[in-house]
Amino acid sequence: MDSIAYVNGSFVPLSEAKVSILDRGFLFADGIYEVSAVLDGKLVDNASHLARLERSVGEISLPLPENIDRIIEIQKELVARNKLENGLVYLEVTRGADKGRDFAFPKGVKPTLIMFTSVKDIVNAESARKGIAVITVPDIRWTRRDIKSVALLAQVLGKQAAAEAGAGEAWMIEDGKVTEGGSSSAFILTQDDVIVTRQNGSEILPGCTRKAVVKLAEERQLRVEERAFSVDEALKAKEAFITSASLFVQPVVSIDGKTVADGKPGPMATRLREIYVDFARATAT
Ligand code: PDD
Repeated sequence: MDSIAYVNGSFVPLSEAKVSILDRGFLFADGIYEVSAVLDGKLVDNASHLARLERSVGEISLPLPENIDRIIEIQKELVARNKLENGLVYLEVTRGADKGRDFAFPKGVKPTLIMFTSVKDIVNAESARKGIAVITVPDIRWTRRDIKSVALLAQVLGKQAAAEAGAGEAWMIEDGKVTEGGSSSAFILTQDDVIVTRQNGSEILPGCTRKAVVKLAEERQLRVEERAFSVDEALKAKEAFITSASLFVQPVVSIDGKTVADGKPGPMATRLREIYVDFARATAT
């Protein structure tokens, strides 16, 4: 059965959910998106995602067509209408559709706001038990990766290369260091038990899950260092893992076909995953 989507003020069956071919999201990737997880029918860490949405739209001078309280209402109504227990809510806002294709911002055009849901059992994902393989690809993205823009072609190509290699994620490499995954933040655990993840800046997206995991780890007196690391360092590490709204925490067991440690999910990634799931359940709204 068709799920229900939201398009500019209306709830409609997904197959009937449409925007104009002149929509600037379609023509210019002139839009911002967010993905929030749903656990037991509730939104996980949603305030953090919506704070990032407000920041991203601010960085490209795109006014939100609805205020944040109304956006939360729409997200919740969509979850309820779809009877979604476990999965994701996808949200996208674009600069709308003008009468033609002019690069500069149009005047008097209302931004487009769409949302849809998907079913996903993130907690019981098999990949979390087995761990995932990653490959590395050059990071060919633009230099404002802190903005969660819908311009995702570099990630599409990277993740396609990963899929063709039988891997679950592509780690993007710039100047010899890992920036992040195609749709996740990258972590390692060094031999002296330091959790390392790249510092925020314009080189990476400030991951909401990354932020929560760093805080939860520090609260438990685990050592965290926010700095760049190389693939070589990751291959010498005790563990590697990734975080995102759609995966929570997932162990990485190989990089470019070479195993990380013994090639099995490590205890730290497994523990952080449990800690994150507990946090997600306890704070979901
Ligand atoms: N991607 N880095 C990139 C490039 C991402 O696209 C994502 C999320 C993350 C993790 O961010 P968060 O923890 O806030 O989900 C890091 C989403 C899930 C996606 O594109 O589907």
